[in-house]
Amino acid sequence: MSQSPLHVAVCGAGAFGRNHLRIYRDLEQQGLTGSAAANPIRLSAIVESDPARSLALHTEYGAPVFSSIEALLEARAKGEIAIDAASVCVPTSLHAKVAAPLLEAGIDLLIEKPIAATREEAASLNALATKHRRILQVGHLERFNPAVAAIQGHLNGPMFFEAHRLSVFTPRALDVDVVLDLMIHDLDVVLSLAKSPVRDLHAVGLPILSGKVDIANVRIEFESGCVANFTASRVSTERVRKLRFFQPHQYVSIDYARQDLLVIDVSGAAGAAALGTAGAQPTPAIPGLPAGLSLQKPKVEPGEPLRLEIESFLQSVRTRQTPRVSGEDGQAALDLALAINEAMAEHARRAGLDRFASPAGFPIPPNLA
Ligand SMILES: NC(=O)c1ccc[n+]([C@@H]2O[C@H](COP(=O)([O-])OP(=O)(O)OC[C@H]3O[C@@H](n4cnc5c(N)ncnc54)[C@H](O)[C@@H]3O)[C@@H](O)[C@H]2O)c1
Repeated sequence: MSQSPLHVAVCGAGAFGRNHLRIYRDLEQQGLTGSAAANPIRLSAIVESDPARSLALHTEYGAPVFSSIEALLEARAKGEIAIDAASVCVPTSLHAKVAAPLLEAGIDLLIEKPIAATREEAASLNALATKHRRILQVGHLERFNPAVAAIQGHLNGPMFFEAHRLSVFTPRALDVDVVLDLMIHDLDVVLSLAKSPVRDLHAVGLPILSGKVDIANVRIEFESGCVANFTASRVSTERVRKLRFFQPHQYVSIDYARQDLLVIDVSGAAGAAALGTAGAQPTPAIPGLPAGLSLQKPKVEPGEPLRLEIESFLQSVRTRQTPRVSGEDGQAALDLALAINEAMAEHARRAGLDRFASPAGFPIPPNLA
């Protein structure tokens, strides 16, 4: 039976908010004709503070565009528009300011990652969501990467993770450092897989171009004894997004960008059994792979992580079930990211990293000075 439509809004229609808009628009159109007809949505409003962008957005999407959250909520209070749920895609430093009044007004939220810029802001957003009984999902979209989803049934106590996330420099997301911008994706995924509190961490980070830390390396030890190494850079010459981990008798490698998954097992039979061969495609022998090791490529159903994330959010809004990536998950990833920043600042003081100040005159950020 067809349900009444969910009315959604996108707040902040910059580089990434436009992806949310594209997907909501697709889901809306699909609902008119296709399989989503039972769960229709309407893209009912856009909030964008940049007037130059607003005009083009109205022309492109045909939805009303508001210049502020206050204007959106005023129109809603007057009954001019309906809004049940919204994506918050403003710069991270503004997440809390934009999200708080929406939660207070009874709107369910998908807040882009990281949940907020500070621990206090994140805690206050979670408290507001609880108080107003709102769904609060955080946009850690790699959790919805089909390659990450495909490993869920095959976890067997990972003890060592190696994460690499390298990207070329673009002048975006420079209100935060590379840990909050990029590494936080891997922090969230590894926290969800390691399932153990952090015991100790060591970190180094350097400002290269932006005035904030642009390249960082972190070693984390969990209470369980599991160790994770993370490297993130936004000043690389190549693009890499990989997570590898070792668990008893298995090495698992995920390429987030290619959405593929490799599992190397110490014994072919054991590997096939552990993977439950349904969908697993044995690959030809790899030159150089020692005898006794078998390589499996479990089937991964391709899909756009952001679309899967948004569909999951809408499902939580409808069912009122806790989202796959909750506000508490967002807070845990942020807490760890900020602890890493503190460890980097401490290391920078000890190592006298001010000599890494850019010859072009980019300042060492205050947290490293
Ligand atoms: N999940 C991911 O992989 C991913 C990737 C990129 C960015 N992000 C996140 O998305 C968020 C936005 O990043 P971006 O790169 O799109 O930034 P951006 O600067 O390109 O876009 C932000 C937009 O918000 C608008 N804005 C600012 N203040 C506003 C306000 N008070 N009300 C309404 N609009 C306002 C700006 O005018 C701009 O158009 C950040 O939190 C970032 O971390 C997530």
